[in-house]
Amino acid sequence: MRNLIDKYAVAAPRYTSYPSYPHWEGPPTEKEWFDNIGANPEIDLYIHIPYCEKLCLYCGCNRQITKNHELERPYLKLLLKEIEIYKRNLGHIKVNNLHFGGGTPTFISAENFDWFLNKLFKLVSKGAHFSGSFEADPRVTQEDHYRVLADYGLDRVSFGIQDFSENVQKAIGRTQPYSMVTEAITMARKWGYQSVNFDIIYGLPLQTQETIDDSFDKVQELSPDTVAFFSYAHVPWKIKHQKALEKYPLSQGREKYLLKIRGERRLVESGYIHLGLDHFVKPFDPLYQAYQQKSLQRNFMGYTTACSKTLIGIGCTSISDASNCYIQNMKSVSDYQNSINQGKLALENGHQLTLEEKTIRDTIQSLFCHQEFDLRSVADVYKCEKLKALIEKIAEFERDDLLQKKGSLYLLTEKGKVFSRNMAMAFDLKLRGGIRSGQFSNSI
Ligand SMILES: C[S@@+](CC[C@H](N)C(=O)[O-])C[C@H]1O[C@@H](n2cnc3c(N)ncnc32)[C@H](O)[C@@H]1O
Ligand code: SF4
Repeated sequence: MRNLIDKYAVAAPRYTSYPSYPHWEGPPTEKEWFDNIGANPEIDLYIHIPYCEKLCLYCGCNRQITKNHELERPYLKLLLKEIEIYKRNLGHIKVNNLHFGGGTPTFISAENFDWFLNKLFKLVSKGAHFSGSFEADPRVTQEDHYRVLADYGLDRVSFGIQDFSENVQKAIGRTQPYSMVTEAITMARKWGYQSVNFDIIYGLPLQTQETIDDSFDKVQELSPDTVAFFSYAHVPWKIKHQKALEKYPLSQGREKYLLKIRGERRLVESGYIHLGLDHFVKPFDPLYQAYQQKSLQRNFMGYTTACSKTLIGIGCTSISDASNCYIQNMKSVSDYQNSINQGKLALENGHQLTLEEKTIRDTIQSLFCHQEFDLRSVADVYKCEKLKALIEKIAEFERDDLLQKKGSLYLLTEKGKVFSRNMAMAFDLKLRGGIRSGQFSNSI
């Protein structure tokens, strides 16, 4: 395993989309985008709330730090205007899944959520099996948030935990005592949330085998339904404030991998199942049933039991995916505001997929969701030299015991799951010219 880590701990895309973001070729026109979605769509809706009260030093999310809560209503009004633009162009919109992400969604007061959701559900209707979720920072989420959001049918909540150790929390600028998290999960259960997720990160400053053990003792006690165990993405050349963490020695390569293994082992010993990538679930969670039935899917928001053909992301920086086309909204709140106030979508970037790209995207999805791929399904894409290079790579993965051949299928081994991002890279035709330094974070 040590040799494999040395070999495969390299910069790698996260493959939330294929092609990866640096390879997008630019946004479609509004008309092309609406044509990609089609009339009267059933969608998943992502709503981005960019604000946070205080900066966490590791944070790689799209956020804006402010304590000014006067910003809430004007921002929520822009979101409603953006939905109205979609409605004018698409007709009736039915929402199957709703997700509030950020930044910190619970920066918005419960009262303003009530005002906003009431108006939102006059513009769009809920699908028959509607489900909704939000990211909750335990430091700023109050009982009224759980109550109001449950009233509108939200049934899943994801807590940003990161680490339970006091020293690590101090180093990353995020103090969040265990008692505060206990209270948060108790509230979520009290208000009937079906699924509770914890986000935990490995590779943060001052983490050791002992602090990881201590954090996972607490995870076991609180027993969330799912856990996302992320690798700390340290990209200070892009995210300047992360430089502040360099006053501590940051674990890399084998040392970082040992933290990952320790945490993952603790999760498996506590009864969680590794779905793939960073995600672990309890066996009774619907995500595991979907995984067993091979219906598990993945979109920009992570793994899901079912996703609609179209994901519309509203708010600054949000990404949308209409199967054959991606777009991203403008990142700056003021640019977003100017565009929406002129009655135009705030398109900053995007990409229309070719047939070849769709085939590769589907193969990478199969790798991440079902831990397998069929070489025949990409036969039209890889020819001659490209095919030869792919087959050589696959043979190397087999020799490294990361893949096993079964008929025309290749199945990931347990070891292979760790390196699935590396395997996805073998299919990525956009990387043939190599990776520019600083383009992506490390695969481990
Ligand atoms: C939008 S944030 C979560 C919501 C909320 N703002 C909070 O912090 O509780 C989503 C998650 O991304 C993860 N994250 C943020 N920055 C990261 C980084 N640099 N590397 C890995 N994971 C990161 C954290 O686990 C975080 O909980
Ligand atoms: S981790 Fe969450 S709370 Fe912290 S700065 Fe990032 S988005 Fe905000």
